[in-house]
This record gives sequence, C-alpha cells and structure tokens, in this order.
Amino acid sequence: MTKNILILAGGISKERLISLDTGFQVAKELKKNGYKVKISEPDVNLSKNIKIFKPSIIFNALHGQFGEDGYIQTILERFKIPYTHSGVIASSLAMNKIISKKIFTKNKINTPKYIHHSYKKNYFELIKDIEKKLKFPVVVKPINEGSSVNVFICTKKNISKILNSMKIYKEILIEEFIGGREIQVAIMGSTKLGAIELIPKRKFYDYKAKYSKNAKTEHIIPVDLPKNKLNEAMDLSLKAHKIIGCKGVTRSDFKFYRNKFYLLEINTQPGMTKLSLVPEIAKYKGISFIKLIEWILKDATTEK
Ligand SMILES: Nc1ncnc2c1ncn2[C@@H]1O[C@H](COP(=O)(O)OP(=O)(O)O)[C@@H](O)[C@H]1O
Ligand SMILES: [Mg+2]
Repeated sequence: MTKNILILAGGISKERLISLDTGFQVAKELKKNGYKVKISEPDVNLSKNIKIFKPSIIFNALHGQFGEDGYIQTILERFKIPYTHSGVIASSLAMNKIISKKIFTKNKINTPKYIHHSYKKNYFELIKDIEKKLKFPVVVKPINEGSSVNVFICTKKNISKILNSMKIYKEILIEEFIGGREIQVAIMGSTKLGAIELIPKRKFYDYKAKYSKNAKTEHIIPVDLPKNKLNEAMDLSLKAHKIIGCKGVTRSDFKFYRNKFYLLEINTQPGMTKLSLVPEIAKYKGISFIKLIEWILKDATTEK
C-alpha cells in the first residue's frame, strides 16, 4: 500500500537551510521508492496541507528552535497523526543544553563543567568565576541552537567581544574547553547503531567544518579505539537517549580527551541528508538510506 508521507521542513530556525536539504533528500528517496510525498513548512498552511494531503505519517525534518525543541511536536500531537523522532518533553529537554547537562550529571554521564550566564553578573566577577571554575580558553555557546551556530572558543582577550555579540540570547552557556578527539554516536531505538570520528581541518567542528565541502572535515569509520572504550561511548549514548526519554534516532556528540568521554549534547533531530553522520554510520552497518528512513517512519507515533 502506498503511504502518504508529509515531510515537515524549513522552519524559522538558523538551521532552516540544513532542514530543507534534509527534507528534499528524504522526499527524493521516498518518491524513488514509490511513496507519495508532500513537503510542508511548519507555518499557517500546515493544517490546510494536512487536510488536503491526508498523510498517514509526518516525517519531521526540522532542526533547531521551533522544530527540535518540543514546540512543533505539541502541535503535531493535536493532529493525532504519527510523527517521527522524539516527542514533546524529550525534544525540549534535549534541546536545552543547561537542562540536559544537569540530567547527564545527575545520571553520572560526564559533561564539561560550565557556567550558566544570564548577563546579570558583573563582567569582572564573571571573568574571576571563569578563571576559578573553568580556566581559559572556554567555549561560549547558545543554550538552544544547533549546527555550531554561534559557538565560539574564547580566550580572556576576546571573550568580552563575544559576550557582547551573544546578548541577543539573554542567557548563554560557558563551558570548559575540552581538547582531544571529536566522536559522535548514533542510537536507533534501543540499538547502539555505531560511532564516527570527525577530524576538522578548521579550529573546531564549526558550521563551515560541518557543511562546507571545502572545509574537508575527515570522517573516520570505524573509529580507531579499543572495543571496550568505544562500547563505553555507545553505552553512554544509549543511557542519555533513555534518561532524556528520546525516541527514534538520536546522535550524541562527545569530546574524547585523556581517555575520558565528555558528552556535549544529544540531538533528537540529527541531520538526515545522504551525507549526514547518522546515515553514514547506518550505511557502514549495512542499512541503506531508504531502509533507515523506513525504520524511522515505522517508529513514528503520537504520545497521547
Ligand atoms: N566544551 C567544549 N570543548 C571543546 N569543543 C567544544 C566544546 N563544546 C563545543 N565544542 C565544539 O563545538 C561543536 C558544537 O558544539 P555542540 O555543543 O555540539 O553544539 P551544537 O548543538 O551547535 O552542535 C562541537 O562539535 C565541538 O567541536
Ligand atoms: Mg553538536
């Protein structure tokens, strides 16, 4: 039976273009395999599109704010149509890096030390605090963005300028800088799908290192680590996936330094272009792009 799949893509977050790329590629793959597909923006026309197209499943290809943080999931619950990836609460917990780091720490998952800065503290006090708790350099980042948007490595010299440029956020996260390797793990339901190592040619795995072909980030699979060490990262990822209450596919981002894993975040809407990391890990494990998409569709549900 042909299924009608409505793909939600685009949106208003800073990751709009990445989401459209994911949406178009998933649509192309589904069409090639006999599905009826419609792409819709998560805007005022969504309700009309659903009424006319009558999808049996909604594939959420959105990233970032209003797509990955529980807001759109709440709206999708109202339509009572199964949708892919995590539900309302898990999406909002995972998207908020402060809340998810608190949950990681409570559950003995190592994550970089941090300061939650809301611009209420005097600048010099903040610097003193950073020197005492974290030491320079530090990583300054938004609490709820993705794709390394507005993530900066800061020294004592340039932090004032960066902090000023981040005032749009009202609240930010300042983390200790963790050197070493960049390793990411994909979880598929309750299965530890696999891991990949990224070796950026740039200063760190920033937006350009992620999406620009010229940046030439190296992807290493399988990851060159002893089996028990790699299993440790996989176990931590599955644990994070479960305690946050995630569903479907997630990707956990780690730094690996001095034989220790530091979980930076768990992504509930990981990139799903053919060249994205989760599809790359899946392919290595013998799961084709269409098989991965079909698994995600089959896993779609509503919470209520
Ligand atoms: N504490 C840290 N130490 C070192 N590098 C970091 C740290 N936090 C982030 N980074 C770098 O920035 C990238 C993006 O950070 P991440 O927390 O995963 O946010 P995003 O949601 O934007 O992907 C990471 O993949 C890593 O390269
Ligand atoms: Mg990340």
